[in-house]
Amino acid sequence: MLLHLDSSANRSDESVTRQLTRLFADGWQAVHGSDGYRYRDLAADPVQPIDTAYCQLGRRSERCGVLPPAQVCTLIENAAEAEAWAVTRPLIDEVVASRTILIGAPMYNYSVPASLKAWIDRVTFPGAFTLEATEVVVITSRGGAYGPGTPREGWDYELPYLRAYFADHGLPDSNLRIISAELSLASLVPHLADLRPLAERSLAAARAEVLSCVEPRENATAEH
Ligand SMILES: Cc1cc2nc3c(=O)[nH]c(=O)nc-3n(C[C@H](O)[C@H](O)[C@H](O)COP(=O)(O)O)c2cc1C
Repeated sequence: MLLHLDSSANRSDESVTRQLTRLFADGWQAVHGSDGYRYRDLAADPVQPIDTAYCQLGRRSERCGVLPPAQVCTLIENAAEAEAWAVTRPLIDEVVASRTILIGAPMYNYSVPASLKAWIDRVTFPGAFTLEATEVVVITSRGGAYGPGTPREGWDYELPYLRAYFADHGLPDSNLRIISAELSLASLVPHLADLRPLAERSLAAARAEVLSCVEPRENATAEH
């Protein structure tokens, strides 16, 4: 299954991450069909921030040595916890069922959008999943540039955070693909006009990388 998450607050066609995740998702479906495709727009349909009930249920599970998701319902003590688990469990089930998780993650204030963070906090219930057999594709876009030698080298707290998060959840480094389109604000902001050719190259390279991920390979078996 492919779980496709978008988190750009900009739901228009201008969104670079949405354009690129759509390109990936369309290519994936051309190979695998649409049965195993699941889409979540975290901006249009936000995941509720976690609350006291979520935390107390999680702490109870930790006290028991961490129960598998199927047994967490046995720990529920009140209606608020039942509600918290009813919101959480389907999101965890989607992660567990996914062979590939595709995440559109624009840089917001040097980090991930709050809508994506809310999803991460919710699905990361104690003991909910490990990602040893999962592939994760993060597609990011940022107004500026953060690579070696740029004035803001070292200011990117988004990708190091996502790398650490996924590594901590068992994702092998080789199963994490990060595709980045930089300088997306160059086309808008007058004082960045000189950087427009670089921005265009970055976007073209990101598109090519997305296509290389999903192009049909000879002898590839259809797996979900
Ligand atoms: C709330 C907000 C915060 C942003 N913060 C940053 C930032 O810290 N660094 C940066 O380079 N660009 C920043 N940008 C620009 C976006 O990263 C850039 O426009 C990106 O292309 C947005 O993704 P999208 O095109 O998929 O909507 C920010 C944009 C918004 C709306």
